[in-house]
Amino acid sequence: MKTIIYYFSKTGHSKNYAESLASRINCGSFNYKKMKYKHMKDFDTIIFVSPVYGNKIRKVAKFLKLYKKIKDKNLFIVAVGMQPPDPERRRSIITVNLLDDYHIRLYELIGGFDANKLSWIMRKVMKIGMKAALEKDPALKAQANLVGNIFDVPREYNDINGIERIMDTIHRLERESKVV
Ligand SMILES: Cc1cc2nc3c(=O)[nH]c(=O)nc-3n(C[C@H](O)[C@H](O)[C@H](O)COP(=O)(O)O)c2cc1C
Repeated sequence: MKTIIYYFSKTGHSKNYAESLASRINCGSFNYKKMKYKHMKDFDTIIFVSPVYGNKIRKVAKFLKLYKKIKDKNLFIVAVGMQPPDPERRRSIITVNLLDDYHIRLYELIGGFDANKLSWIMRKVMKIGMKAALEKDPALKAQANLVGNIFDVPREYNDINGIERIMDTIHRLERESKVV
């Protein structure tokens, strides 16, 4: 089974995950700009790794635009975000990105956050978004008070369990592809 990985990454977490999956699978990982049908047509499995911003998976539209041509392949979207996955958030990601319309496996990995690597405008957007979210949800506010200000200390997370879950599926597909 031939696999190829594409990624978008602003601050490096999604790129690191794409590269770590690529080294486990022994395949190539490429910037999303290379994501064109002629580049991917000879592969059986295509994985797209990208961060979540306000539940929207960045650059996912470029991947979904190719769907009609690649729908018979094994398709994965790996959404990297700061929040730990939970069913409600997963539902939001599916809804916001219209993923009910596609047969694509969705995995979520916990990434990290480093405000120093963001442009000032991005930091501002993030601060406004967080303020609104915290005011709306007292539970989230309590949690935020516990972990401290994410703008002060960079967060780094290596989601080993999440990577293993993806690898389990890849190995199962590999086994199935050998059964005639
Ligand atoms: C403007 C902005 C919005 C974000 N929105 C979310 C979000 O809705 N949910 C989430 O889990 N993480 C959110 N994050 C965190 C990123 O998904 C996280 O930092 C991710 O690891 C970044 O990946 P990258 O390093 O590959 O760019 C947001 C980050 C920024 C800058």
